[in-house]
Amino acid sequence: MTHVTEIIVQVKFSEKLLRWITSRESSISALISFAKTRKGDSPLDKLENSDFRSDTVTLPTEAMRRAMAEAVVGDDVYGEDPTLTRLEIEAADKVGKEAALFVTSGTQGNLVAVLTHTDKGDEVLLEAESHVYYYEVGGMSALGGVIPRLIQGDAGVITPEALREALRGENIHFPKPSLVCIENTHNRAGGTVWQTEQVEALAQSAHASGLTVHMDGARVFNAALALGVDVKELVAPVDSVMFCLSKGLGAPVGSILAGSREFIAEARKWRKMLGGGMRQAGVLAAAGLVALHEMVGRLADDHALAQWIGRELADIPQVKVNRERLQTNIILAEVNPEWGDSAKLLQGLKDEGVLANAFGSQTVRFVVHKDVGKADAERLVAAVRKITR
Ligand SMILES: Cc1ncc(COP(=O)(O)O)c(C=O)c1O
Repeated sequence: MTHVTEIIVQVKFSEKLLRWITSRESSISALISFAKTRKGDSPLDKLENSDFRSDTVTLPTEAMRRAMAEAVVGDDVYGEDPTLTRLEIEAADKVGKEAALFVTSGTQGNLVAVLTHTDKGDEVLLEAESHVYYYEVGGMSALGGVIPRLIQGDAGVITPEALREALRGENIHFPKPSLVCIENTHNRAGGTVWQTEQVEALAQSAHASGLTVHMDGARVFNAALALGVDVKELVAPVDSVMFCLSKGLGAPVGSILAGSREFIAEARKWRKMLGGGMRQAGVLAAAGLVALHEMVGRLADDHALAQWIGRELADIPQVKVNRERLQTNIILAEVNPEWGDSAKLLQGLKDEGVLANAFGSQTVRFVVHKDVGKADAERLVAAVRKITR
């Protein structure tokens, strides 16, 4: 073959290959997603970004997919889905509450809790950077007609003194305070943990003033693990708790709201009103059961890897990690303003195949979860070192 013919053949072949790839784009991305469920074992891992944006990006395990396919289901609005009923019973037992309700998301769980605990016009006390206030679209005001009152916490924790200070007493001008929401672990503070005694003290003070207490425990199993206590003990003082089966526990969809039987019966009606009455939702609950049975213990791996990343990043001059706040699976890194800002670091990381999120102009958040491993962590640290050199 002449040189020119050879080149033409090669170009034609590349064109054909490109067309083949394009026509199969969706199957290829499905294959990559499938390979991600086997993180660490596949050569396709190299094609993937190392995704530290959030533990919300976790993919269901093979056991979850199998359980979902085989789930026995029924109409849950009629109370006839045996898999969902089993999840609600096991979830309530896991956190030591009388009853539980499967909800579509953490946001829906928190909103249903607020709607159930309050009346229109009430005041709800919240930590100033809490997820319920910061990231839940103002649902409590838009749909619940309640007014938030913010309390500045210390690493996300509200002291009984700060609560007492915020409670203004009876006066014709003031709304009626009826609920305090606390967040354990506290996301924006860096995955920080409320200790059992701190939850007890706050709840005691709130109850003494006639308020109920709801815990946004999206990552409460991370908190219990960090403290080395049973999650039941940690949530015993609060009237209701929401935790996520998605996120660190890896289920594709869903959260749990737990509390007294009476509270959950009322919450079930609010969930229905919000459009959260799902029919054959046992296919989702099946994955949730696997999350409860198989995924809680492995959170320890995430915490250990987060510590490793924190130690390595601490040696890099242009970023500062508050190691005291690094208590679970979230790492906050402050970018030296003389070097640049979070946008600059995030873009540099993206170019190196590492994804993270900004928490303000100088802070970057990395979240460790089941779909990132040591190789991803090494890639992250090497990338930060290279970018900030
Ligand atoms: C502390 C906390 N609460 C609630 C939520 C809301 O959960 P969802 O994304 O399932 O609505 C999140 C989500 O990241 C969270 O971090």
